[in-house]
Formats: sequence, C-alpha cells, structure tokens
Amino acid sequence: MVKTIKIKGSEGDSVVMVGESLLNLGRYLPVEKTVIITDKNIWHFHGKDFPPCRVIKIEPGENTKNLDTVRHIYERLLEFGVDRSSYIAGIGGGVVCDIAGFAASTFLRGLRFGFVSSTLLSQVDASVGGKNGVNLDGYKNIVGLFSQPEFVICDLNLLSTLPAKELRNGFGEIIKHAAIRDEGLFTFLEENYEKALSLDPEIIERLVYNSVRIKSEIVSRDEKEKGERRKLNFGHTFGHAFEKILGIPHGEAVGAGMIAAGYLSVKKGFLRQEEFERLKRIVRLFGLPVELTCDRAKVIDAIRRDKKREDASLHFVFLSGIGASVVREIPVNELEKFLGVVISDQ
Ligand SMILES: NC(=O)c1ccc[n+]([C@@H]2O[C@H](COP(=O)([O-])OP(=O)(O)OC[C@H]3O[C@@H](n4cnc5c(N)ncnc54)[C@H](O)[C@@H]3O)[C@@H](O)[C@H]2O)c1
Ligand SMILES: [Zn+2]
Repeated sequence: MVKTIKIKGSEGDSVVMVGESLLNLGRYLPVEKTVIITDKNIWHFHGKDFPPCRVIKIEPGENTKNLDTVRHIYERLLEFGVDRSSYIAGIGGGVVCDIAGFAASTFLRGLRFGFVSSTLLSQVDASVGGKNGVNLDGYKNIVGLFSQPEFVICDLNLLSTLPAKELRNGFGEIIKHAAIRDEGLFTFLEENYEKALSLDPEIIERLVYNSVRIKSEIVSRDEKEKGERRKLNFGHTFGHAFEKILGIPHGEAVGAGMIAAGYLSVKKGFLRQEEFERLKRIVRLFGLPVELTCDRAKVIDAIRRDKKREDASLHFVFLSGIGASVVREIPVNELEKFLGVVISDQ
C-alpha cells in the first residue's frame, strides 16, 4: 500500500509517496512533455522501467554535482526544445535530485518537476525540504535554492540494487531522526536492526515513512532553517568535518559525529550516560564507526570554515534524551575539548 505525506512549502506543496513504484511514474506527469534526468548507474539497473521519455544521463557521484553539469543539462534542454509546459523528472539519489531540482527550478525561470528517489538516503532525507543545488570550489551545496518538487516517489524496490555502503548512509540519517525526535522509532531500530539491514520490506517501509514524517514535521515548521530545522544537523557539525578531512562516506562521518555530539550532551548535563550508551550501541549495530583516527586541530579548522558557522560560536544540536534534542550556541573552541572520545590522534 502506498503511504503519502503532504508537505506544505511557501514555494508550493509537495507529496511524498512511500511504497509507490517507478513503474507508475507515468501517472504523475505528462509523459510526452517530460525530460528525465538520471545517472548512469540508475539507468543501468532500472532504465528498463522508466516511462518512454527523453533521458539525460549524467555521470554518477558527488563530483558531478557542479555548474558544468547544470550547463550540460541546460544545453540538452535547449536541444530538446523544452518550453514552459515541459516537465522534469529526476530519477536517482541525492546527487541527481539536487541537480535536477536546481536545473528545473532555474531553466525558463522554473519548470514543473518531480522525483523518484532511488537511494535510502535520498528517500529519508533529500526527498523532503525543497533544498536543491550544487557544489562550487570545494563548498558543498553553496549554490542553490528552495523549491519543492510536486511529488517524490520513494520506491522501496529500487533499494535492492543499492551497495551496502550507500544503505549505511541512509541508516545514519534514520538513526539521527529517531535520536532527535522519536524514541519509539529508536526502540524499533534497536529491535529490528537485523531485518532492517537485510531490507525486510515491512521494516524498511516503516523506517522510510517515519523518517519522512519526522523530517517533514520539522521542515514545515521552519522551512528556511531559522530554528527547529537546525535539529536536523545533529551529528553533522562534526560529521561534515570528518567527511571532509578523512574522505569517508557521509553516513560513517555522521555516525561518529553523533557520538561526538552525544558525548558533549552528557558533559553538558543534557543527556544521561546510559542514554549515550544506547546511542553508541545503535550506531555500531548499523555498521557505523563510533571512533575515528584523525588530527583534532584539522577537525576544528574544518568546523570553522563550514559555511553554516556564525563567527566564533555556532548552533550546536545536543540530545536531551533518546528522542529529544535542544539547540544551543557554543563557542567553537569549546568543541575541541570534547573531541577525545571519538578521535584518537594520529
Ligand atoms: N536536498 C537535500 O535536502 C539533501 C539532503 C541530504 C543529502 N543531499 C545530497 O544528496 C547527495 C547524496 O545522496 P546519495 O547518498 O543518494 O548519493 P548519490 O546520489 O551519489 O547515490 C549514491 C550512489 O548510488 C548509486 N545509485 C543510486 N540509486 C541506486 C540504485 N537504486 N541502485 C544502485 N545504485 C544506485 C548512484 O549512482 C551513486 O553512485 C549529496 O550530494 C548531498 O548533498 C541533499
Ligand atoms: Zn546527512
């Protein structure tokens, strides 16, 4: 059964359909007027199930998420004679959806568009919130805009071809959503981690649905990230720094980042030690690291450079229980003192 979640955005409404199939994509758009944007991996595995539309295939991977690719897409759209009645469908993970959303929102000052999310990460995270954009000169997502897709199809069957590393990236965000907002979901993860890892359809459906609901509730209250939406950055202040310095996958970096943030939460008196142990256990159960080896000074330096930093202090997300979180300002210097728990110096 398809479960839908409606999201209200100032730039329009969006509907996320969990359990809908790529095979039904043609029901949601004008097939003759649609251009599909996808990457070559997804085309290889699932291209046979695409509706009969024109297709732009980009190279897979984060390195493609730049303005050169956007230009290439614009040029193809010109060749195709796209006009204001045309439709763009992004079929892929976060990279494809971020680029497709950006290209669709800017070409001819904005075309209608929708997505089929093909990775666990894009289903539970990138599918909600209306953010899109590309990287520039080493800065992630620095060029882009808020603009809602009309729909997002989360086809759970597509996940069967996804590499394990990519699945872990998605589980990292699901753990994050549970940790900041939903103790019931956290307990469900603890009880069902083996089935989740083997992609048991019922378990995955519940995880994706609950995650989308949590993110959409937070985003609908704070679309432009002024307050509550910051909670979605839990584990990401340190996580982005680890990802950048060590070149490890996002989910691994966020796993260790959540541990660093959890430890800080204990030290600040927000979280109990036994709750912190639960967090560590779940991160480990999903195959994500709770410790890393790297240079502490580099981590702090990377945090200072992060585009979301505000002067010498930043908004940091603390856990105040399992399923509860608070945001407080903290001087960047203070973060350094607590890094020891996740980082052993090189
Ligand atoms: N817009 C947002 O709110 C938001 C939120 C989170 C992340 N993001 C962005 O999302 C990106 C990461 O997304 P991602 O993790 O989905 O990465 P991705 O899009 O690069 O996909 C990961 C890999 O899996 C392959 N793949 C995708 N679907 C597949 C399938 N069904 N079977 C086999 N292989 C498949 C891709 O070709 C790629 O090699 C980052 O650029 C990040 O900035 C955006
Ligand atoms: Zn993330």
